[in-house]
Amino acid sequence: MSQPTFTKDAGQQAKTIQQYYQWQSKIYDLTRWSFLFGRKKIAELLPVDRQATLNVLEVGCGTGFNLQRMAKFFPNAKFTGVDVSADMLTIARQNNQASLSRMEFVEAPYGPDGVNFPGQMDLILFSYSLTMINPQWSSLLDQAKLDLKPDGYIAVVDFHDSQFQWFKNHMGNHHVRMDSHLQDYLERNCRPNYNQSKKAYLGIWEYLLFVGQPK
Ligand SMILES: C[S@@+](CC[C@H](N)C(=O)[O-])C[C@H]1O[C@@H](n2cnc3c(N)ncnc32)[C@H](O)[C@@H]1O
Repeated sequence: MSQPTFTKDAGQQAKTIQQYYQWQSKIYDLTRWSFLFGRKKIAELLPVDRQATLNVLEVGCGTGFNLQRMAKFFPNAKFTGVDVSADMLTIARQNNQASLSRMEFVEAPYGPDGVNFPGQMDLILFSYSLTMINPQWSSLLDQAKLDLKPDGYIAVVDFHDSQFQWFKNHMGNHHVRMDSHLQDYLERNCRPNYNQSKKAYLGIWEYLLFVGQPK
């Protein structure tokens, strides 16, 4: 059995996700710690000077979990969080009160047909966003390549794959595609500094941690 099909239209993708997070945003921070693994690790894997004045973009920043953590990790960095969900961004602002002067939030889809930042970023993070952006995810990675400065890094933490079709179908019902597609694409288009998939819950699924520079 294959996974559910995803709409091709970027505007429709954004609308579907906005609706999904109208309610999910209320329970997001209470629940996601139990299955969005690797988010605490990703900042530690970045091969950049922690004191540097970096421009950091998180695509699909959600409730700002990563921004909060990275603001502590990189005290001189400036952050931009892009997300299509106003409900998630409201919580992101609340969660990041201490660092708001260094943060900008943009409510829009990211990508060639949405908001983008050509040549401006030192680091672009995708944390559990790409597997929800179907089927446009690869055009967002291509955009990230254009938005990075020459020595910039792309970091991805996300679902990778599962050997259980019932689990993939369950995740498909939550708009998530997981069939190794991110790692395949990243390996073809980036030079990796870190590239590992790890087991979650004794192997019900695997998640991906990737840091690299575009080829
Ligand atoms: C699973 S959440 C991840 C949130 C956060 N990065 C984290 O790690 O907790 C996925 C986020 O991606 C956002 N998103 C989905 N499609 C998007 C798009 N096309 N452009 C920007 N953000 C998008 C959703 O609204 C949601 O907040």
